[in-house]
Amino acid sequence: MLPSGEGWAFAPSSVQSVRRLPTEKEIHKENRLTPNLPDYKKAYKGFQWEAVRTELGLVPPVNLASKAVDQHASSWRRNKVALYWEGAEGQNCKYTFYELKNESNRIGNMLLNLGVRRGDRVFVFLPRIPELYTSVIGIAKIGAVAGPMFSAFGPEALRDRLLDSGAKVLITHTSLRERIHRVWDELPELRHVIVVGASTSGGHMPLRKGEVSFEREVEKSSRGLEVEDMDLEDPLYILYTSGTTGKPKGVVHVHHDMLSHYITSRWVLDLKEEDVYWCTADPGWVTGTVYGIWGPWLNGCSQVTFEGRFDAEHWYSIIERYGVTVWYTAPTALRMLMKAGPEVVKKYNLKSLRYILSVGEPLNPEVIRWGMEVFGLCIHDTWWQTETGAIMIANYPSMPVRPGSMGKPFPGTEAAIIDGKGNKLPPGSSGILALKPGWPSMMRALWGDEKRYKEYFTIPGWYTTGDTAHMDKEGYFWFIGRADDVIMTAGHRVGPFEVESALVEHRAVAEAGVIGKPDPERGEIIKAFIVLRHGHKPSRELEEEIKEFIRHRLSAHAYPREIQFMDGIPKTRSGKIMRRLLKARELGLPEGDLSTLED
Ligand code: WTA
Repeated sequence: MLPSGEGWAFAPSSVQSVRRLPTEKEIHKENRLTPNLPDYKKAYKGFQWEAVRTELGLVPPVNLASKAVDQHASSWRRNKVALYWEGAEGQNCKYTFYELKNESNRIGNMLLNLGVRRGDRVFVFLPRIPELYTSVIGIAKIGAVAGPMFSAFGPEALRDRLLDSGAKVLITHTSLRERIHRVWDELPELRHVIVVGASTSGGHMPLRKGEVSFEREVEKSSRGLEVEDMDLEDPLYILYTSGTTGKPKGVVHVHHDMLSHYITSRWVLDLKEEDVYWCTADPGWVTGTVYGIWGPWLNGCSQVTFEGRFDAEHWYSIIERYGVTVWYTAPTALRMLMKAGPEVVKKYNLKSLRYILSVGEPLNPEVIRWGMEVFGLCIHDTWWQTETGAIMIANYPSMPVRPGSMGKPFPGTEAAIIDGKGNKLPPGSSGILALKPGWPSMMRALWGDEKRYKEYFTIPGWYTTGDTAHMDKEGYFWFIGRADDVIMTAGHRVGPFEVESALVEHRAVAEAGVIGKPDPERGEIIKAFIVLRHGHKPSRELEEEIKEFIRHRLSAHAYPREIQFMDGIPKTRSGKIMRRLLKARELGLPEGDLSTLED
């Protein structure tokens, strides 16, 4: 397992310097490297989690964070770069595994000093800055439960998550803290808000009661930390995700997940010692936590992270400047790059890339063909969910890709297409996509919501995913759609209920129904049907005002890009909004059974 050392010794001493790019010949050679999973069929047949446990050296009690960071910091990887960070303004820095260990230790100590104990929930509401990564690790090291939240969230989204989880501490940034101030009164369990950027070289920002400065507290804290030994079943992180009804659900994952993180990163992402890996997802979403923090670092891999938003030129330039070799991204981003056109891509040298993966929404064959043209590489689709905690179905480097298919189940997991009674359906039939429960990273609970947790397991013997799909004769799975009303917009999961609840808080909105409307670029966009209160008239200005209201209150990713004003919203006799009918009418599809429609 010892590396030649050469691969990462080439890593730039300063990220501003240009990484030596491999020649075409070298790329060829690289692509002929044996994949970490050379034979899918064989691996699937003989797979045992016990072997992964041995390979990872997993002997409980253990802490995932120290496996992902400290283990490398006290090995020959000590000075290997763990994180290359590029800021939105072009600033940059990097952390070695040794530095990551020290920084996260200090954060662990800071939290202990503030009274955080094992099992407490500490939420993180930060832009994609290094403190986001070091905080999540520091939290896990002291046995607390980390709750990353997307920086676009508004006060409403924050309140729901912090209240439900009973978070004791929140780590945020000066640029975001005002959103917390607006809801803090409603959060009786939130004791401290730690603010990054409050004490800078320019002076100190006045803080409110309960707020502390991240920099000052960290400075006071020691680098020596006794990492908390955890039981494999102890909670590690909580991510909130949307369903059709109700508020977001707090999906609980545990330290045991590391087996899945480690082996899927090895076999699906094909991460190797010398790789420079870039996951474009934010840790507020499960891809950004599992494959932007845990999985790659359990494998001792160098990662790149970019704070800024999507921008075709900037993205290509990151690949070029950092020499990204493995890239995990999403269909919407790929479609936006495709739209940016061939002239843009030609300006950059992207020869360092050797492997590209996608997740979150259907990957169109057209995008795969475009990828072949511009990168000379086949984009590999992967399928999974917040609840599954790791990739479940994938295209592997050693397996031919069928464009449009999500691939085959990961070794150690069984996927099937079933009917409502749990019977497996033959190849070619569409049905419910289900998994046999019991893989290490399966969610352990929905925080405080046993009832909704059980809804995933109502078909005996199966975990049901909420997706419909079919399987072909050779065992490849093909995505059909969601079985529920959950909206997937630009790879983000949005519950219509959350948007509807936020909409009716607007002074002019009496009722609202929300659907996902197919969109060539974003997969789906959010469309809202709105009934106005007496005294308000539809207008362009009001439409814009409502959009802005949702952007700020709920989240920038969850605002309705389209609004249609109506006189009434179709509802069932029991008062439920008939989203299916709204959608059928919008798309000109058959309206189906209307027997429950209210008069
Ligand atoms: C959808 C994201 C088509 C699906 C990791 C799933 C996909 C939901 C794919 C989970 C794919 C994910 N093709 N659809 N390759 N991957 N999805 O929890 O509907 O944010 O149930 O996790 O995204 O979204 P989540």
